[in-house]
Amino acid sequence: MKGVILAGGKATRLRPLTYVTNKHLLPVYNKPLIYYPIEAMARAGVKEVLITTNPEHAGDFINLLQSGKDFGVRFSFEIQEEAGGISQAIKLAEPFTHGDKLLVLLGDNIFTHDLSGTVKKFEKRKEGAFVFAKEVEDARQYGVIEMAGGKVRSIIEKPKQPKSNLAQTGIYMYDDRVFELIDKLKPSKRGELEVTDLNNFYVEEGTMQCEVMDGYWIDAGTSHDELLAANNKVAELVRKGKLE
Ligand code: G1P
Repeated sequence: MKGVILAGGKATRLRPLTYVTNKHLLPVYNKPLIYYPIEAMARAGVKEVLITTNPEHAGDFINLLQSGKDFGVRFSFEIQEEAGGISQAIKLAEPFTHGDKLLVLLGDNIFTHDLSGTVKKFEKRKEGAFVFAKEVEDARQYGVIEMAGGKVRSIIEKPKQPKSNLAQTGIYMYDDRVFELIDKLKPSKRGELEVTDLNNFYVEEGTMQCEVMDGYWIDAGTSHDELLAANNKVAELVRKGKLE
């Protein structure tokens, strides 16, 4: 299994904090935001990790993260030239994965769930994809997962009337067909190659699996309030010894 952490984008929702830096470098309690998904990747047992980021800030990521030795992983870096969506960024991992399966983490997702058991199981699967879900109070700002009989029936991006309270998190696993599937995607209304459209190829095929995570999860990059909530919650979790 190879890993990719996506750290591109313009983060317009977090301006003015993001005029001169990348949101994944902003502080969350005592560390830059991207440290949390990196540490989760290391805990999942994935050692070779690609970081994708935008051209303006790539140098900052290399200066900060270096080889990956301190995290117990080995980093590679790729530049995402335009902010064209999550699936566009995943496509950059094609030459890096060499036909392996891929664990994708969004660089602004902080969570406590241990992925290692599910990663091992997924490695043994012949084909398909996997998405982690989290129950939330209001799912309208996320991809929303509809389950029926233990199977994923649909994933709808930011619906006005969600069919469930299961948010699609920023944690995905894919087989090596993922890159051909990305080639088939068309930009959405917001001009991006959406991860939800990619995931729905697997949903239609019947090979998308889903697990509802326990513990804490937040997409810290969504708004100033979410970033503040992440800071407060992470401080509490660290004090309680539930997060490093
Ligand atoms: C993205 C995905 C969405 C998912 C969310 C999780 O949203 O499009 O389906 O629920 O990440 O963090 P975005 O942050 O691009 O609005």
